[in-house]
Amino acid sequence: MNDIAFLLNGAPVQLSGESPTRTLLDWLRESKGLTGTKEGCNEGDCGACSVMVTDDHGSHALNSCILFLPQLHGKSVRTVEGMSGPKGEMHPVQQAMVDLHGSQCGFCTPGFIVSMAVAHKNGARDHDDQLAGNLCRCTGYAPIVRAAKAAAAKPVPEWISDIPTATGKTAAPYAPGSSDELAAWYMAHPDATLIAGATDVGLWVTKELRPLPEVAFLYACKDLQQIEPVKGGLRVGAGVTIASLREAVAERHPSLAELLRRFASEQVRGAATIGGNIANGSPIGDAPPALIAMGATLHLRQGDTRRDMPLEDFFLEYRKQDRKPGEFVEAVTIPDNVPGLACYKLSKRFDQDISAVCGCFNLTLSGSKIRSARIAFGGMAGTPKRATAVEAALTGKEWAETTIAAALPAFAKDFTPMSDMRASADYRLRSAQNMLVRYFHERSGVSVSVLEVSP
Ligand SMILES: Cc1cc2nc3c(=O)[nH]c(=O)nc-3n(C[C@H](O)[C@H](O)[C@H](O)COP(=O)(O)OP(=O)(O)OC[C@H]3O[C@@H](n4cnc5c(N)ncnc54)[C@H](O)[C@@H]3O)c2cc1C
Ligand code: FES
Ligand code: FES
Repeated sequence: MNDIAFLLNGAPVQLSGESPTRTLLDWLRESKGLTGTKEGCNEGDCGACSVMVTDDHGSHALNSCILFLPQLHGKSVRTVEGMSGPKGEMHPVQQAMVDLHGSQCGFCTPGFIVSMAVAHKNGARDHDDQLAGNLCRCTGYAPIVRAAKAAAAKPVPEWISDIPTATGKTAAPYAPGSSDELAAWYMAHPDATLIAGATDVGLWVTKELRPLPEVAFLYACKDLQQIEPVKGGLRVGAGVTIASLREAVAERHPSLAELLRRFASEQVRGAATIGGNIANGSPIGDAPPALIAMGATLHLRQGDTRRDMPLEDFFLEYRKQDRKPGEFVEAVTIPDNVPGLACYKLSKRFDQDISAVCGCFNLTLSGSKIRSARIAFGGMAGTPKRATAVEAALTGKEWAETTIAAALPAFAKDFTPMSDMRASADYRLRSAQNMLVRYFHERSGVSVSVLEVSP
């Protein structure tokens, strides 16, 4: 393949002839002997392989086990070996981990150091969220979070504060430089696999060992990474990461932003895109139910032809989407005016876990009546799906507990959920019903936070 240029711990790297689906982790450990970066799960779950990646959006901790080499083109990578200074000076987070006993067996420690150093560089103080993607089996999180807090008071060392990015040839044809180029290329190669953040595709390679004979990387399509205000909403390009989307909607749609805080981990959110989350068509993806409840519009493009549709119409059946050969997701428009939105994610583990059920509610009230209802669920069917029978049972009725109770049987008309290792069918149905009850109480001013248990 063509050249890939990036900086590794400050030194320029130029690669030719690598497989486009070789992971950074394998290359670091096998070709560079940089074995400080650990392989734990090899599927984005544990953070042992975290590296600092800097590009024109800033510095992020990313999981190198599901990052393909071409995704680094033009960027800067710092591994744990590059966290200390040129004379061997320890980074403040390293010193704090030593001082405050943040490491026992040490296997997870390089990944923690990288995540902590990125958070330290970015001035982040939400240590629990920052470290939710790093798993430690033996030390426990208290000393580690104590170390992160202690280091936060120290300045960012100069070798970390100003990280340049690499220049070099674009790795075309794998990385079209704009959506126009992508549209033309994809029409000519409709069987190719598009790769955005690779947080889904990465696992096809590392876990399913699936060969991907022809791929195109979307990282160079800067025009797909824009978020722009449009009439009545926000048009979000397919290449916008979940981290950037979360930031963009924090004030307008706090409940969506809170749902996105629970989307995987810092490492995954920094790579995963909204386009990938939609196009992947998973029945348990978190963004689609929220966006469907909000009334979002999907924008698709095939060559020079564009079409728009309500997002819910995109999902036809399990893993089958309304996408033609050579057609890709260009953007999604999220309406502004959704004051009644509430999103509830139920998963076995609070942090870094896929939803068992994700319920999103958007009811409009008019006086004492329910004027309209849009309700959508993930985890309840083969696709993200609207609860149309429940919506009908609520619309035009009094906003009262009796209405909610009367609507609960309609869930069984909308959904026949399955049982799997995340949840049984009965549990899913009951939880979905309870989410509507929760929505009623929350909207009526009762605190329903599951994190604040009061006696
Ligand atoms: C550890 C871990 C935790 C996770 N947790 C969550 C979670 O909590 N919630 C959740 O919803 N998901 C979760 N995921 C799944 C994944 O992160 C998301 O689905 C993510 O949004 C995928 O985006 P991506 O850019 O990485 O997609 P990629 O992996 O690059 O692509 C995914 C699919 O979309 C296609 N594609 C990508 N962009 C486009 C486009 N513009 N047009 C057409 N097709 C396109 C690809 O060809 C591929 O089929 C998790 C994944 C991991 C590894
Ligand atoms: S090895 Fe576990 S996240 Fe990469
Ligand atoms: S110190 Fe052993 S896994 Fe964290």
